[in-house]
Amino acid sequence: MKSDPGIDLRHIAIIMDGNGRWARKRGLSRIKGHSAAEKSIHDAVEVCGELGVKYLTLYAFSTENWSRPKAEVSFIMKLLSRFIKGNIDELDRKNVKLRTTGRLNDIPENPRKDLELAMERTSGNTGLNLILALSYGGRAELCDAFVRITGDIASGNIISSDITEELISRYMYNSDIPDPDVIIRTSGEQRLSNFLLWQSAYSELVFTPVLWPDYNAEQLRSSLDEYRTRKRRFGGLE
Ligand code: IPE
Ligand code: IPE
Ligand code: MG
Repeated sequence: MKSDPGIDLRHIAIIMDGNGRWARKRGLSRIKGHSAAEKSIHDAVEVCGELGVKYLTLYAFSTENWSRPKAEVSFIMKLLSRFIKGNIDELDRKNVKLRTTGRLNDIPENPRKDLELAMERTSGNTGLNLILALSYGGRAELCDAFVRITGDIASGNIISSDITEELISRYMYNSDIPDPDVIIRTSGEQRLSNFLLWQSAYSELVFTPVLWPDYNAEQLRSSLDEYRTRKRRFGGLE
């Protein structure tokens, strides 16, 4: 099918999956797969820069991922610190604004401090918004929104008849970010795994069998080519 050059591409969201399988295929431990993931993140940032995409959300750690073995979880948290410290200069130079989504308070103090410093340092940048989804769950986000909405009703800031889709969107973690145009998932799994449940209502879904550490710039461009063949109707007619 022909690709549509006019199709919106403001926000790309990626479920970076398959690190463990990538390592297993090579006879390595799962954590080596997580270490190998960094290059693919670089490529994704690069491609977004080339295309002038404004928002890139990367699902790095879900609320359910806390149930993994302690050693794997603590390795991922250390890797997060290492990623921030090792990349903040380059991200800043590329005018990237680093942000997060999820229950950041769950993240151990060291990586959380590194993240907060990096976010502070890049807060004035005007290029790509790179949003790391950390301890993120779509249902947790909805729960947190319900708690805040009912709190605001109890304190008289809003009344129940104020509740509209627009209002609920304003209570999500990052209300200024447009819904993802496309959600890409690597590794062959075809599910959302609790990612952006509210925001994905009309996102196009692109699945690829490539494992995340093997997912390079060329593969991302090809996923985006697939996205551009889609006809987005939003329930209306073309
Ligand atoms: C994705 O890779 C990274 C995280 C969920 C943190 P996985 O660790 O889920 O890799 P597979 O799915 O086991 O191959
Ligand atoms: C989804 O991958 C979460 C991230 C990529 C961070 P999982 O590997 O945790 O998802 P399931 O368990 O296969 O659904
Ligand atoms: Mg997985």
